Amino acid sequence: MNASQAEKRIQQLSHELEQHNYNYYVLSNPSISDFEFDGLLKELESLEQQFPALASENSPTKRVGGDITKKFKQVTHDFPMLSLSNSYSKEEIIEFEERARKLTDADMEYVCELKYDGVAIGIRYINGQFNRAVTRGDGTKGEDISANVKTIRTIPLQLRGEGYPADFEIRGEIFFPLDEFNRLNQEREEIGEALYANPRNTASGTLKNQDSALVANRNLNCFLYGVYSREKISETHLSNVLLAGEWGFNIPRPENNMIRLCKSIDDIMDFINYWDTERHKLNFEIDGVVIKVNNFIQQEDLGYTAKSPRWAIAYKFKAEAVATKLESVSYQVGRTGAITPVANLAPVLLAGTTVKRASLHNADQIEKLDLRINDFVFVEKGGEIIPKVTGVDLARRQVDNVPLVYITHCPDCQTELVRKEGEAQHYCPNESGCPTQVKGRIQHFIGRRAMDIEGLGAETIDQLVEEGLIANNADLFDLRAEQLLPLERMAQKSVDNMLAGITKAKLIPFERVLFALGIRYVGETVAKKLARHFHSVESIKSASIEDLIAVDEIGQRIAESVREFFDNPDQQRLVERLQNAELQFAIPEEQLIGKTDKLSGQSFVISGVFDRHSRDELKELIEKNGGKNSGSVSSKTNYLLAGEGMGPSKRQKAEDLGVQIISEADFEAMIA
Ligand code: IVH
Repeated sequence: MNASQAEKRIQQLSHELEQHNYNYYVLSNPSISDFEFDGLLKELESLEQQFPALASENSPTKRVGGDITKKFKQVTHDFPMLSLSNSYSKEEIIEFEERARKLTDADMEYVCELKYDGVAIGIRYINGQFNRAVTRGDGTKGEDISANVKTIRTIPLQLRGEGYPADFEIRGEIFFPLDEFNRLNQEREEIGEALYANPRNTASGTLKNQDSALVANRNLNCFLYGVYSREKISETHLSNVLLAGEWGFNIPRPENNMIRLCKSIDDIMDFINYWDTERHKLNFEIDGVVIKVNNFIQQEDLGYTAKSPRWAIAYKFKAEAVATKLESVSYQVGRTGAITPVANLAPVLLAGTTVKRASLHNADQIEKLDLRINDFVFVEKGGEIIPKVTGVDLARRQVDNVPLVYITHCPDCQTELVRKEGEAQHYCPNESGCPTQVKGRIQHFIGRRAMDIEGLGAETIDQLVEEGLIANNADLFDLRAEQLLPLERMAQKSVDNMLAGITKAKLIPFERVLFALGIRYVGETVAKKLARHFHSVESIKSASIEDLIAVDEIGQRIAESVREFFDNPDQQRLVERLQNAELQFAIPEEQLIGKTDKLSGQSFVISGVFDRHSRDELKELIEKNGGKNSGSVSSKTNYLLAGEGMGPSKRQKAEDLGVQIISEADFEAMIA
């Protein structure tokens, strides 16, 4: 392919991929499979690698991140970023509406929107191309966080449609979808890391990260709420927003009642009341509703105060909080030994569910709140699954309520707790003797995403530990039927299943074995990175902190934890026993030289010429990955790998037989 052909193809691919992005993320209505999408993206990536001069700043390949920003550039806003005046009562909304109505004899129109609880962003587009994205900062100057914002799939890099000004800015709110936030925290809990407190701060922290690839992984989202341009676009705010929707932006849709044109105070109140209850069903947090005068001329007439427009007001919802009695505090021990204090409360109804427990995070938090047993505490529910204690109702405190004293010893094994310099969490250091940690580690080891041992569940693990049959992961592989059969609730069949499940663990690939070991801070992603970089446990064992940090996304803290694990003689013995049990502690040689069984059982016919591989290379790749080559299309053919200049009769035959016709890029994606 020459440069001009490549340029054409790159343009075509970029256009197609943006379209699919839009269908998938903005409209939630994909028209191709993920597999096909990945194929197109890979093709674009490889063309951009071959012709770097043709790679655009706004290419869909930028969505996966990778650009590092050492220091964010300060940028002065073209239009200052103001704030909204807040109100907490309906009377204030009535006053706002009356003031606005006095201005004119004409009928007033208002637009009601949600007040998204996220991070404000201003994005500039020049000739339909993403130019830069700037944070609010102090309202006058913000930071250019373009590389990070480009990873947000609902923010277009190239606009669709027509009629947008040559140079304009669009503003909106970037937020952490609740399902993504809870998933992130769940992952952190699994690797024993402190949980993030709330979606908004986490979104804000994420956007300030230097590594855009990390941002891409977090799946942030954005709603747009205002278009700013020196050129006039339309007469009203609502039509501007709807136009922005046509240009490809993720806007609130009237169909979902997320934006509504209101002609009276009653309409406005309806909107407020609707969302006051319905907001709990959204997959993002809002902290209120915004009411804006719709017509731009009327907006100008109303004008601005020093900080905020007079044509808009925010109605803030009261945080959903209740007061209830703190009956006691219990302490949970995690599999990494981390201690989490939990408040036991007098049951109380909050946002539709009965709450009996709330998280207290750590000792600092308890101290900061100055908690005492029998206090009435405020409990709030945000986007998190577990509600949290946010304060104490001091007016209701009894004089004899004594301050809480944090435990000094493990509630499970009575070992003295430790707290490392700079860490918020207390730990039980008795790794090998603390029953909860022992059980937790083995439960993690057998988990679905780790060794995935069928026929074994959490309860059985508890039973086996309590019976003294196992005390660590390696002991599982020494279990024999005659030890298990006498146990309560164990029949021949369940014992057979269990032992078969344990044997099958030998097939689990190295990266999952590494994850299963339960090394602190080594979650699934880190385990994958380590496995793919070092290829075997032997080379990880001999890696220095520097070697470890050299791996993408591995920092000092993870590196130290990995070293600590493999320097520990107990762990060394365990790993050795697991190696003797024949678990996978390396990536097999065949796989390293490109041999896989990804195409096993699949038969291919190659026809035509290809851009990146010769036909012989393709045949070799098919064999290396376990597939079969065949000369002619028949009913046994699974795929026709079609290049340029393929004969029409072959295509016809494949179509008649229902054989799938794939491109070189599709094929590359299959074996990637
Ligand atoms: S309009 C001149 N609309 O609230 C006012 N702001 O306190 C322009 N926000 O910084 C803002 N949802 O980050 C507007 N539908 C919405 C909003 C919204 C959230 C945030 C925004 C702004 C802050 C103002």
